[in-house]
Amino acid sequence: MQKITIKKILKKKNKLPIVCLTAYSKNVAKIADKYCDIILVGDSLGMVLYGMKTTRDVKIETMILHAKAVKESTKRSLVVFDMPYKTYTNKFIAYKNAKTVIKLTKCDAIKLEGGTEITNTIKHLVKKGIPVLGHVGLLPQTSGKFKVKGKNSIERKKILNDAIAIFNSGVFAIIIECVVEGLAKEITKNISIPTIGIGASKHCDGQILVTEDMVGLSGFSPKFVKHYANLNKSIEKSIKNYAEDVKMKRFPFIKNVYKWKII
Ligand code: KIV
Repeated sequence: MQKITIKKILKKKNKLPIVCLTAYSKNVAKIADKYCDIILVGDSLGMVLYGMKTTRDVKIETMILHAKAVKESTKRSLVVFDMPYKTYTNKFIAYKNAKTVIKLTKCDAIKLEGGTEITNTIKHLVKKGIPVLGHVGLLPQTSGKFKVKGKNSIERKKILNDAIAIFNSGVFAIIIECVVEGLAKEITKNISIPTIGIGASKHCDGQILVTEDMVGLSGFSPKFVKHYANLNKSIEKSIKNYAEDVKMKRFPFIKNVYKWKII
């Protein structure tokens, strides 16, 4: 099993689609590792796992616990740590936090949300040897509402400029979230590193989804998510059957019981 490196990710541009998913736990990470080029330990875990209203309340300590579990359960995929809100407010804070995160979790790279306003931070981190994955378009840490981006020319121009600016600052790839198709196509054409779309059309060099959305567990189902399973339904059915078995004294069954052998 060969480890996916940043070099390999870069080589896929215009050649092979890049497969990415999020993972927050050991069990999901183990499965995703067999099929994904990149596994993102996303701060979306705040909303998906902890029921927070926004990703802004996610603490770096929480991310570290999940990222450690994910990284320790993977052999192949490139594992990226999503830096939470307010952990990269300037280049020095960003480096201090990123260094700690990499030391404690052994993740391969970090992700930062933003455009021109974080170029100095990206340059500083890259210079210090920390690989950075960019993120433009809809930025959950700062944008508040869930809304498709790039519907007007001012927004399109700004997002394209952001993507070019962070590309020039040294990110190795860029996540483009929830933008109109033409904009994703334009960004992908204008930069020589891979773009990874989430709600950003097939014109990106790769795709990412939040795994819990994709398997129908989170209940979040915007237009861009394809549901490959309905785990919500499966888990509910299992819990309902279990509850009935316990009430009817059908569980534990003989094979679930430890017998007392007299010796
Ligand atoms: O936090 C996250 O899961 C993300 C993805 C939506 C790209 O940033």
